[in-house]
Amino acid sequence: MTETASVFPSKQFFVDMLTRDIDLPDAIIELLDNCVDGTLRTTKKRHAKEPYKGFWVNIEFKEGKFIISDNCGGISRERAETGAFAMGNPDLEHDSHLPTFGMYGIGMKRAIFKIGRSARVISQTAESAFEVTIEKDWVDNGEEWDWPLTPIDKPFTEPGTVIEIGDLHEYIQRQLFYFQDVFINKLRDLMATHYTVIIGKGFQITLGDKPVKRQPLTVLFNSRARKQGPRIIPYIYKAETLDLKVRLVVGLLGPTPTDDELEEELDLPRYRGEDAGWTIICNDHVVVSGDKTELTGWGEICVPRYQGQFSAIFGVVEFESLDSRKLPLTTTKRGIDPSSYIYDIAKTMMIEGTRLFTDFTNQWKNYREEEEALYEKLQPTEVGKVVAKIPESDFIEVRGHQWEKKYLPNLPKPNEKTPKRQIKFAYRQLELWRLAEFLFEDEDTPASQVGIECFNRVLREIKR
Ligand SMILES: Nc1ncnc2c1ncn2[C@@H]1O[C@H](COP(=O)(O)OP(=O)(O)OP(=O)(O)O)[C@@H](O)[C@H]1O
Ligand SMILES: [Mg+2]
Repeated sequence: MTETASVFPSKQFFVDMLTRDIDLPDAIIELLDNCVDGTLRTTKKRHAKEPYKGFWVNIEFKEGKFIISDNCGGISRERAETGAFAMGNPDLEHDSHLPTFGMYGIGMKRAIFKIGRSARVISQTAESAFEVTIEKDWVDNGEEWDWPLTPIDKPFTEPGTVIEIGDLHEYIQRQLFYFQDVFINKLRDLMATHYTVIIGKGFQITLGDKPVKRQPLTVLFNSRARKQGPRIIPYIYKAETLDLKVRLVVGLLGPTPTDDELEEELDLPRYRGEDAGWTIICNDHVVVSGDKTELTGWGEICVPRYQGQFSAIFGVVEFESLDSRKLPLTTTKRGIDPSSYIYDIAKTMMIEGTRLFTDFTNQWKNYREEEEALYEKLQPTEVGKVVAKIPESDFIEVRGHQWEKKYLPNLPKPNEKTPKRQIKFAYRQLELWRLAEFLFEDEDTPASQVGIECFNRVLREIKR
């Protein structure tokens, strides 16, 4: 007889490892991701403008439980018996024809054990319904891993799933119940950012009785402008291979802030630059937002490091693939794998686009008054609409490939026939107050205004 050495994992160890590296909001996002994937399996209108319309998810914390319910199609009985509850995806071809986000077959189980010790999963498809229960002592008890599944009569009016998690861990209970307002606000912000595209395409998320509103993805654009002359217009890049699509838009959120404005906002809890930087989207899920680091090209090659002067520059890059493993994601799905080939290609274009706008803000730095006129007819416009408005014939091929194209904007340049220089110097606060009082009878006049007035007065004197 051949003897064996046991490699069977301990449940406790397995569950500890599984839940250690994820925080609570991200675990909840995993559950929501499953609902969104459910809609893709259910809908017949995947290519419509609003493929998620009519689908909803509701998250509540009540009676000491965490409850998430949805109408996103449910889990089929067969899938439940053979894969949905498995720790790790036993069927890699599952969903291979859909741009779903699930990959590893672990998210739901990880979220359940992050939150509590026991759970009930009730799910209904068009055909049937079942209930799976995880008892409180499952982790501690023996070597039986499988959970009981009971067929039940259809409990809901439409196909969907309810996951009810109980016996919450103490630190989770603290966040969900004792610090509920703080936690809900944080979660709401995270969802508004993470699901901005999905909510924009019709999905409805309710958190603690209130719907989650999306954080719009807009850049300044004049959709009526016909003329081709220099104007503020975003940089765009599009690529399409057999199994991946990429779309990138970078532009301005608003006028560049002045030095005075930047100084003022040092004291504010929220600053305008929070929205600036790069947002990265994979299969409609935002995986990185407001990035201003080398990950997205800031401070690399020809792009300067991010600083307040660039807080109006905003870019969005979207990747789409039917095979979620082709997306440039890290295993947590909340970050980008910088060594991904497709990300590397996109990043060279992100760098080119960002550079256009850092140059733009540098060129206009000393021409603030003239710059104002450039913004007159511009409106914050959703990035998708911007791309749709630029005629295909205005795009040019990239690197000689037909599958990648870009739109290079012709950004306005200041008239430098009479060049301007910037003057910067430090002064004593007391002296500034005295001058401000003397010139404007208001000692709180901004420093720059006081400086300009002093300069102009002397100039007028010379000209006299
Ligand atoms: N709300 C839901 N609606 C429909 N199906 C669901 C739902 N939640 C889970 N499922 C099913 O359960 C399976 C397992 O979910 P789980 O999150 O554990 O893994 P996954 O989504 O396949 O991969 P990942 O670990 O990357 O999230 C899903 O593939 C899906 O078939
Ligand atoms: Mg999942």
